[in-house]
Amino acid sequence: MNYNKENEAKLQKSYMQEVRNLVEDTSKRLGRKLTYHVTTFGCQMNAHDSEKLKGILDEMGYMEKEGEDADFVIYNTCTVRENANLKVYGRLGRLHSYKKKNPDMIIGLCGCMMEEKDVVEKIKSSYGFVDIIFGTHNLFQFAGLTLKRLQENRMIIGFEDDDNSKIIEDLPSIRKYSFKSGVNIMYGCNNFCSYCIVPYVRGREFSREADDIIGEIKKLSRDGVKEIMLLGQNVNSYGKTLDNPVSFAELLRRVEEIDGIERIRFMTSHPKDLSDELIDVMASSKKICRHLHLPVQSGSSALLKKMNRHYTKESYLALAEKIKERIPDIALTTDIIVGFPGETDADFEDTLDVVGKVRYDSAFTFIYSKRTGTPAAGWESVPEDVVKNRFDRLLEKVQTIAAEKAMALEGRTMDVLVESINEHDNSLVTGRLSNNSTVHFGGDESLIGRIVPVVLKECKGFYYIGEKE
Ligand code: SAH
Ligand code: SF4
Ligand code: F3S
Repeated sequence: MNYNKENEAKLQKSYMQEVRNLVEDTSKRLGRKLTYHVTTFGCQMNAHDSEKLKGILDEMGYMEKEGEDADFVIYNTCTVRENANLKVYGRLGRLHSYKKKNPDMIIGLCGCMMEEKDVVEKIKSSYGFVDIIFGTHNLFQFAGLTLKRLQENRMIIGFEDDDNSKIIEDLPSIRKYSFKSGVNIMYGCNNFCSYCIVPYVRGREFSREADDIIGEIKKLSRDGVKEIMLLGQNVNSYGKTLDNPVSFAELLRRVEEIDGIERIRFMTSHPKDLSDELIDVMASSKKICRHLHLPVQSGSSALLKKMNRHYTKESYLALAEKIKERIPDIALTTDIIVGFPGETDADFEDTLDVVGKVRYDSAFTFIYSKRTGTPAAGWESVPEDVVKNRFDRLLEKVQTIAAEKAMALEGRTMDVLVESINEHDNSLVTGRLSNNSTVHFGGDESLIGRIVPVVLKECKGFYYIGEKE
């Protein structure tokens, strides 16, 4: 197919202008500005996509509003676990009541959940008040879909293609923070872990060209961004399929050279693809944050095989050990699933054993959730009470260790990137350490976006109270 990215970007920009004209007409008729609200579910990838949606909404003449009683409301959905999915249905009812009071209101649904056919069918049949539905691959067509909705006054569904290589990047975006930003380095996932829906909803893995990524980061840096988060489901396999292959470690080396960028983070590392080259780059870097999120999922080699993770308990432990030796101040964090089909007491003990040996700085613990369409969905489940009991034991262990690790930094002076005024006490500001822990300390708005040395006076378990040096 003859597909021209530049033309598509131009086309989308012209749609934005056309929508803007219509929005201005309505604005005049109502005697007020039209407003928007974007609600994000799910991971960093979705959060970053939402910044693009906001950029487009702004360009189309809408103004951001805090509440969901806006003229244009979008839910950017997640479907990684059942409860993420249920939350959306639960909240749609409330949106409907807003729409009854405001007939001009537009309700848009996008994100991973919309990539599931049965979800779209259900919305079409039971939630007819929804105006626009589109998938993760069609986000860049948002302006065109909005225009169509305004012109045709019916439910518009946009799913034309699920080819990640066609994603248009040169579109507006509104960042939550002026000084930090996510940057997509790859889309999709090819790993097909047997429990996971992501490869089905996000499509095949596709790496962006290194030059495009570097260009975007240079532009962000000129715009005042100091911290960037490189985003992908498996960043360690970045660049392998490019015409001129570039490793993730090589990409990091190039990002490190960009003036103005002071902190580099990335998400997520799959243990199977983590190279020695990457450990070397991290160890010698001045900018890459002392934090590595390395999802283990389970400590049992037998379960890891069934999960299709391509590593064993032993190889994971050896990898964690190697990283800690080379980068002693690194914070290791992880994701763990409890109650995967067939999990025995012995399997679960292996998970506890790994937690005790790696001593994670924090861990996201999840109860296994059956996702229709994935291989594991057909496998025999573990009784609920057994899962609940294991989950509680795991959480207790994870939290005890995390608190001990946090305590060990008490009294040290460390750099904090200040993000905001503290939510509960406006004499304090809140920021993050290189290892991603949160610190609150006395300060004012002038510190936001700055990196300042702070003494970690008191560890409160998951965060610190500090004092500016
Ligand atoms: N690409 C990342 C993970 C993205 S999903 C990686 O491979 O590490 C984030 C986390 O959700 C996963 O690490 C996993 O722990 C959890 N998860 C995914 N599918 C799940 C399911 N069906 N039930 C429970 N947790 C799940
Ligand atoms: Fe899901 Fe596995 Fe891909 Fe992560 S690597 S998104 S867990 S399939
Ligand atoms: Fe959820 Fe999609 Fe992220 S399913 S976890 S929002 S990639």
